[in-house]
Amino acid sequence: MAKAGLCAAKSPPVARGATATSSSPNLQNTPTWKASSTRGVFPFTMQYATLVERGTCHALHFYRVLPMFRDLIDDLDDISAGPEILLDVPFVPTDDSVIKKMLGLARVKATDVLYDLGCGDGRIVIAAAKACGAQGIGVEMDPLRVADAMENAAHARVEHLVDFIEESIFTVDISGATVVTLYLLESVNLDLRPRLLSELRPGTRIISHAFSMGDWKADEELELSGISLYKWVVPAQVEGAWEWEGLDGNTYYVELQQSFQEITGTAWIGDTEVVLSCATLQGDSLELHIEDADNAVHVFTLIFAEGDVKSVFENV
Ligand SMILES: C[S@@+](CC[C@H](N)C(=O)[O-])C[C@H]1O[C@@H](n2cnc3c(N)ncnc32)[C@H](O)[C@@H]1O
Repeated sequence: MAKAGLCAAKSPPVARGATATSSSPNLQNTPTWKASSTRGVFPFTMQYATLVERGTCHALHFYRVLPMFRDLIDDLDDISAGPEILLDVPFVPTDDSVIKKMLGLARVKATDVLYDLGCGDGRIVIAAAKACGAQGIGVEMDPLRVADAMENAAHARVEHLVDFIEESIFTVDISGATVVTLYLLESVNLDLRPRLLSELRPGTRIISHAFSMGDWKADEELELSGISLYKWVVPAQVEGAWEWEGLDGNTYYVELQQSFQEITGTAWIGDTEVVLSCATLQGDSLELHIEDADNAVHVFTLIFAEGDVKSVFENV
């Protein structure tokens, strides 16, 4: 690949904003759970109402139980323990065998910094540290889970690699992550999505246990005896108009539209409109196939950083 000349211009990216969740202590359509000292797990529903009343979580109306959280309710009475902290998702741990697949899907290595958003007892960050030598940050709102996670990290002798932050996944700084793991809910993933797209660096891998991300299609999906694992690679913002000089001395110009990692657009060589036959975005790297009037295909790789093209390479 040879470096092509660069004279890129870009229109402003689509504005994105963070979204916060509501946690009003009344009858709700948006699910919340109280922080709990119980190690019990919940069957999980997508649609239900929860009544939270002066420190006690009552009646759960289950309409549809999803297989992902089909474990038993241990002891509903125990849910009332602890301070008034409303969780977006209850604690349901990921099995070790599934964690192994999640780390494999993310291709976690020693240079990675893995954030588990809603880390529970810390098992994913601890496994990433133990198995891959990666640094890990667990983010968890339930202080009792954080205490468990710290104890588990000490027991696994990985305290030097991991840290646990007692904070909401909706406010914590995630910009340092190179891998993010999630075991939340599709609705919570969707609330987090604007932050994942705008605050994570392009190329950061996101792995979700069981829950997808709405119309942001996964780059990879793995099926594990009825449970899906999803992987996304955070795409750079590439929408706009870009121009550069090819090795043949021609000016190449593209106008691109973007929906997550999917890119469409139009290309010109000089003043002639030509065919943009392929546009593949992977993190910060955009490969474009541009067909000239003689059907010869010119392949360029544009590397993006901070909303701008940093370099252009041409396959020769
Ligand atoms: C389904 S568990 C997953 C635990 C762990 N990631 C795993 O896969 O084993 C979800 C965790 O998210 C935590 N949680 C729920 N809402 C949260 C929020 N807004 N901020 C931080 N943690 C939250 C819960 O306390 C719970 O431990």
